[in-house]
Amino acid sequence: MRDTLYDVGIIGLGVMGMNIALNMADHGYAVLGYDRKEAKALAFSQTPGNIRIKGVSSVKNFVKGLKRPRKIMMLVPAGGPVDDVIDAFTPFMEPGDILIDGGNSFYTDTDRRISRVEEKSLHFMGVGISGGEQGARFGPSIMPGGRPEAYEAVGPIFEKISAHVDNEPCAAYLGTGSAGHYTKMVHNGIEYALMQVISETFDVMRRILKLSDEEIHDVYGSWTESEVDSYLIEITHHIFGAKDDRSEGLLLNKIMDVAAQKGTGKWTSQNAMDLQIPVPTIDMGVTMRHISLYKSEREDLSKRISGPPCSFKDDKKKFINKIRNGLYISMIISYTQGMMMLKTASERFNYGLSLDKIAKIWRGGCIIRAKLLNHIAEVYEGNPHLSTLLMDNSFVDVLNSRLQDLRDVTAMSVLNGVPVPGFASVLMYIDAFRSIHLPANLIQAQRDYFGSHQFERIDSEGMFHYNWY
Ligand code: 6PG
Repeated sequence: MRDTLYDVGIIGLGVMGMNIALNMADHGYAVLGYDRKEAKALAFSQTPGNIRIKGVSSVKNFVKGLKRPRKIMMLVPAGGPVDDVIDAFTPFMEPGDILIDGGNSFYTDTDRRISRVEEKSLHFMGVGISGGEQGARFGPSIMPGGRPEAYEAVGPIFEKISAHVDNEPCAAYLGTGSAGHYTKMVHNGIEYALMQVISETFDVMRRILKLSDEEIHDVYGSWTESEVDSYLIEITHHIFGAKDDRSEGLLLNKIMDVAAQKGTGKWTSQNAMDLQIPVPTIDMGVTMRHISLYKSEREDLSKRISGPPCSFKDDKKKFINKIRNGLYISMIISYTQGMMMLKTASERFNYGLSLDKIAKIWRGGCIIRAKLLNHIAEVYEGNPHLSTLLMDNSFVDVLNSRLQDLRDVTAMSVLNGVPVPGFASVLMYIDAFRSIHLPANLIQAQRDYFGSHQFERIDSEGMFHYNWY
């Protein structure tokens, strides 16, 4: 009888659920899938290949068909569907069983669900999974949070099915409560920042340097062999090689310049505000998606507000190197902002996060994987309590040798009227952090002037108020 029980259960056999299930089956696990729709469950049972999988559409049969402690992972859309699964499945589960949310749930929802599910003596884990369809099928990056004893039971599965870098799994226990979903949220915030700054490199090459699609394709190709090498640069290179299947030319040129979002980047920005952590490049990633939505206004205003004529007379090759250096710094700063947020959140929410571990599991499988993460992991390994990556000498050296390039590209874009808010935010962030004096003293004086809010003095301890009137 025991032999007929399955090792792990997957709820939701959509793109992510199906691919995670097949990935687990490839690694020798017997997988029972559940989908409300009988046809989907049946199709799952009929998946070709010498693997032990079955699909059912009865909640009871699904739960009873699993080995104990039951390990059930749901891959359903964030929000109401997660609560629906909890309501429908937990009545059949038994103490010690583990219910895992593998979607992009908001971390406070995960905390609430943990309390709710633990009342029934069950475990609830919030697990971030990155890598899209391909990652899910052949090795994602997995960011698990929850109780360590629950991780002990499911960790070996995650570590087997995840991507591997240098023989190390891109999955590791991150911390308690909603640590996994919080980390995934920040991962996505960094994803927004990186996508924004990469898109700006395209705009500068197209509008200022007037490079052709083929030339831009070649530039991104060459960058895949440089220090900016990353998944997002690799796919950008491929995108510049993809011909339209419905007409002549590059598909990219037929895609509407209006960027959508599911909200995880926005959550990162909102939460950073609550934590008082500056993440301007992530903010710009979100904001520029919002500006992109105003297509008709942009069309209209492009005819009514004139900009400077584009003129570029320098050496294009040299300038492309500057763009690449500017991008490299922008990548460093995007991770810097996200890591600073994780550090503060870990202290605030008692997650117990190790930033080196997070950098390590982001080296493979996920959307923000990049060569640079090897170095970031080393830096945090050497100094786990670093307040910000900017404080590390190796990054100070990078800035000292290349900041002028970022400045030149940003300045050239400003003079030519090409928006590069991501690059500019990186430059302003660095310039602010390297400023011994910020004009915040004036802000304090103004606050005290109109609201008696008091200020600190540089020459005496305590809070002071001045009689301005
Ligand atoms: C990943 C991605 C993924 C994300 C989508 C869409 O790590 O695999 O981050 O989780 O949801 O890429 O995100 P947006 O719709 O917000 O751009």
